[in-house]
Amino acid sequence: MTQDEMKFTVAQAALEYVVKDTIIGVGTGSTANFFIDVLAKMKNDIKGAVASSKATAQRLKSHGIKVFNLNEVVAISVYIDGADESDDALNLIKGGGGALTREKIVAAVADQFICIADESKLVTIMGNFPLPVEVIPMASNYIKNQIIQRIGGTPTVRKDFITDNGNLILDIKDLKITNPKAMEIELNNITGVVTNGLFANRGADVLLLGMSNGVKIVTA
Ligand code: 5RP
Repeated sequence: MTQDEMKFTVAQAALEYVVKDTIIGVGTGSTANFFIDVLAKMKNDIKGAVASSKATAQRLKSHGIKVFNLNEVVAISVYIDGADESDDALNLIKGGGGALTREKIVAAVADQFICIADESKLVTIMGNFPLPVEVIPMASNYIKNQIIQRIGGTPTVRKDFITDNGNLILDIKDLKITNPKAMEIELNNITGVVTNGLFANRGADVLLLGMSNGVKIVTA
């Protein structure tokens, strides 16, 4: 199975977790795109979706799926999204596509977070994938220096990229994340950080992992 076939397979498996007659949350990225495309089959079974990015909103609408603003909904039954890395406790690194802040907000509101990913994303210790941090542009140099002093690693501004919220992304390379919950909090405590791509204090509830022989269901 190719990586794309694994992503497609987990996207299909995630349909089982869609709660009928509710509003669901939908993530961003290539795996989430596979999910949106298969969700189209059951668009009449849900009330609609809250999108974690402008790109996702556009794709949902292109399939005729109703998109709600978060402020107009009372609850989100389930959030379905990909990840850049997951450990076996279902702490995640997200934000490779730069949508981490809206993703984290939608995940916070949702009753359940189902992460969909191919097998390459499961790691023992996270940090091989550069950790994204969304920052207010005027603070990027200050934050870079604070990260070096307080966290370590090598932060660099993502080139030619502005988030949906009008901010910059710093990608931190050379990290070995042994305590994801503490690092998530420490990074968010730096003034000017909007949020970071560690989803540890609110990690996934279920990881659907695409393997060459099918889908593995991992729970924390
Ligand atoms: C976007 C994300 C994505 O979920 C993450 O980058 C995984 O992407 P893909 O499904 O394309 O591998 O966090 O901000």
